[in-house]
Amino acid sequence: MEGHTRGRVTRDGIRIHEDADFSGMHVAGRLAAEILDEVAPLVTPGATTGELDDFIRARVEASGATSATIGYRGYQHASCISVNHVVCHGIPGPKLLKDGDILNIDVTVIVDGWYGDTSRMFVAGSLSRKAERLIQVTHDALMRGIGAVRPGATFGDIGHAIQAYVEAQRMSVVRDFCGHGLGRVFHAPPNVLHYGRPGSGPRLEEGMFFTIEPMVNLGRPETKVLADDWTAVTRDKSLSAQFEHSVGVTADGCDIFTLSPANRFHPTW
Ligand code: MF3
Ligand code: CO
Ligand code: CO
Repeated sequence: MEGHTRGRVTRDGIRIHEDADFSGMHVAGRLAAEILDEVAPLVTPGATTGELDDFIRARVEASGATSATIGYRGYQHASCISVNHVVCHGIPGPKLLKDGDILNIDVTVIVDGWYGDTSRMFVAGSLSRKAERLIQVTHDALMRGIGAVRPGATFGDIGHAIQAYVEAQRMSVVRDFCGHGLGRVFHAPPNVLHYGRPGSGPRLEEGMFFTIEPMVNLGRPETKVLADDWTAVTRDKSLSAQFEHSVGVTADGCDIFTLSPANRFHPTW
């Protein structure tokens, strides 16, 4: 039946990749995750986010890969670094990290044409109880979303799993940014919403590649973008956290392409 052909695109515009494509995604995803493993020790009070980005840029180049973000819609950096109430797309620069800051670092690399996109949370120095809880809930929300990935489920099932968990913890899910299909392109259909109703949205099929990257706020979900046209912040200035994995749908669940080789994805305290 036509519907089983791999290498096609669904009517929602979602590419169905072939078995051989999974290995390309594993290589790209592992490199992105490895770079985040290596940046971890540099995240200390007194470091600047620009220094962290310099390390990431050099590490991408040294590996022979390409940064997907440098030159993307005019963006000039090898990472996005989003500190405290910055929700996403924080621009690295001279800002000094101070004790207790929490930050998301998001790296996307291209290896042999395949995109690996991942982000996770880091802490400079000591961590407050409320920040620890936010980070824990955001990580667990991502893993619950990933737990809903299998052929026959829908994208609404993923969003629902995330939203139901986060709201039960009395935190909020950001609506203004979403995950995305990827593969040989950075941002492809579908939009992967981190909220939704069970059974809604396109149906998942083996061979789909996409990110899940929930942003969770301690306060309200509304965001605004600053005058630099990139930096998204919480409107109420509440703390925000995010974790991101790139995944591929398999016959019975999913592969996570961006697993941390050092097993440092989840921060342990
Ligand atoms: N890596 C981000 C994502 O998860 C996209 C960053 S685009 C940039 O989709 F230009 F801001 F870097
Ligand atoms: Co992404
Ligand atoms: Co990303």
